[in-house]
Amino acid sequence: MRRDMRRVERDKELTIAIDGWSSCGKSTLAKALAKELNFIYVDSGAMYRGAALHAMRKNLVSRNHVDINRIIASLADIKITFKQNSKGKAELYLNEENVEKEIRSIEVSNSVSSVARIKEVRLFLVKQQRIMGINGGVVMDGRDIGSIVFPLAELKLFMTADPDVRAQRRYEELKAKGDEITLEEVKENLKLRDEMDSTREESPLIQTDDAIVLDNTNLTPQEQLIKTLELVKKARKT
Ligand code: DC
Repeated sequence: MRRDMRRVERDKELTIAIDGWSSCGKSTLAKALAKELNFIYVDSGAMYRGAALHAMRKNLVSRNHVDINRIIASLADIKITFKQNSKGKAELYLNEENVEKEIRSIEVSNSVSSVARIKEVRLFLVKQQRIMGINGGVVMDGRDIGSIVFPLAELKLFMTADPDVRAQRRYEELKAKGDEITLEEVKENLKLRDEMDSTREESPLIQTDDAIVLDNTNLTPQEQLIKTLELVKKARKT
């Protein structure tokens, strides 16, 4: 049934769904793939981060408090969009304000999973994500892309890597941006987010039966891109 439905859509370009644990290189791979294939890249996590930032600014979420009802009500005031910067990189805008840098902070990372577990927040963002991918030719990364957003995606990847390697990579990335952070804080944040994202009731992170597992613990970004391009070739033939 699923395969038949996929075939009907054949004249469209592929939809590529990339899910996996926090900080395991999903966006690095997704961006490189989109560039190589001339596809649209959508960082769905950035959208959840934007929603979390909005809730934080309204004092509706902190480490030990989440005002679910007011977060849901405040969705009516949120417009989340991507705009390309002068280098062609998509950046997140919250109500016309460029918040690309702010959404990557550890404060947002510490609150985002509490906001992302709210059903209404997910419905609000999934609707927009589906519109972004309506014509195919899209690479989207997140936690529920292959399971909920695009269950008929022709290529689904589930990415993983050793937790210590993931933490070290994210730590170096944040340090390079000038963030004052310790490796322990990064480790703790990844552990907590992975736990919350995979055990929540609404659209938890899962590995779907048709997803291909990509463990990049010992792969360079170039190696993982080459492997994935082979999978794209195969997906185009089926
Ligand atoms: O991909 P990321 O680490 O920037 O995502 C931030 C958080 O957003 C992540 O911890 C869980 C949530 N998220 C989600 O629930 N569903 C998605 N499709 C993408 C992200």
